[in-house]
Amino acid sequence: MTKRVLITGANGQLGHEMRNVLDGDDRFEAIFTDVAELDICDAEAVNRAVADNRVDYIVNCAAYTQVDKAEDNVELCRKINATAVENLARAAAACGARMIHVSTDYVFNGRGYRPYTEDMTPDPQSVYGSTKLEGEQALMRLCPQSAIIRTAWLYSPYGNNFVKTMMRLGTERDELSVVADQIGTPTCAADLARAILAVLTAETFVPGIYHFSDEGACSWYDFTVAIHRLAGITCRVKPIRSDEYPSRAHRPFYSVLDKSKIKQTYGITIPHWYESLSHCIEILQETR
Ligand SMILES: NC(=O)c1ccc[n+]([C@@H]2O[C@H](COP(=O)([O-])OP(=O)(O)OC[C@H]3O[C@@H](n4cnc5c(N)ncnc54)[C@H](OP(=O)(O)O)[C@@H]3O)[C@@H](O)[C@H]2O)c1
Repeated sequence: MTKRVLITGANGQLGHEMRNVLDGDDRFEAIFTDVAELDICDAEAVNRAVADNRVDYIVNCAAYTQVDKAEDNVELCRKINATAVENLARAAAACGARMIHVSTDYVFNGRGYRPYTEDMTPDPQSVYGSTKLEGEQALMRLCPQSAIIRTAWLYSPYGNNFVKTMMRLGTERDELSVVADQIGTPTCAADLARAILAVLTAETFVPGIYHFSDEGACSWYDFTVAIHRLAGITCRVKPIRSDEYPSRAHRPFYSVLDKSKIKQTYGITIPHWYESLSHCIEILQETR
């Protein structure tokens, strides 16, 4: 039997990759929406979309993702990352649908020194992280038959992201300074989309919180050096401390995620971040 899947935020990085994995897969009838077709802040529209389409799963790729701007746009950020998730959760629960929701490593304070597991206590340090945590909590309260996948440092060939910015700056400038004391894991949105597909196709759906990123860990500095090496860009990259690059939002110093749970539960194999980065840069160079 085909599963009816409603994708929200389908024009974003992850949303695009969900199109790539679901389009043409006859196990699914996918309904792709972004804010023009379905504004997830509109509770009535969400109820109608879920009920009228007799949705089995909602994959929520919509979010307010501008971490620095969120510090000054608290209301809008909370509306999209928390209140709208409540709308989706209520609509899913009312129709017996399941939700797969995406969250962030920024729910943690980043003062840890070993990979974060799902049972570790969140302690967000930014508006973005706090509102994403509020969204998680609302979902678990209103529609516990849901999976929350926390991810990190997402990039893809689509939209704006760190990889594309560093490729552009690397060609415009002779030297770049990049923070070297924040450690995390770059995650290719296509890998996350494949993980979500594994959840959607699993024989048994196991609700709960999961962590997903690509394998390995690095600093933003290491990431930049790798981007330039793979793209053939010869720009000098200088490592700096976070306090030399002040930003509006506080970012975690260490936010590596432990992925054992999702790997064991859903039988997922995850590529190393460098391998996926190499693939993404090939795509970016082919389409330039
Ligand atoms: N990007 C990262 O580094 C990162 C890291 C960790 C976790 N995550 C999480 O991963 C998920 C996917 O992130 P992403 O990078 O793919 O995000 P993205 O590229 O910013 O895409 C989000 C999409 O949601 C849309 N949207 C915003 N408000 C909406 C509304 N009210 N109704 C419907 N759609 C709306 C956006 O439209 P507009 O562009 O028009 O606003 C955009 O198309 C998010 O939950 C995010 O919090 C991302």
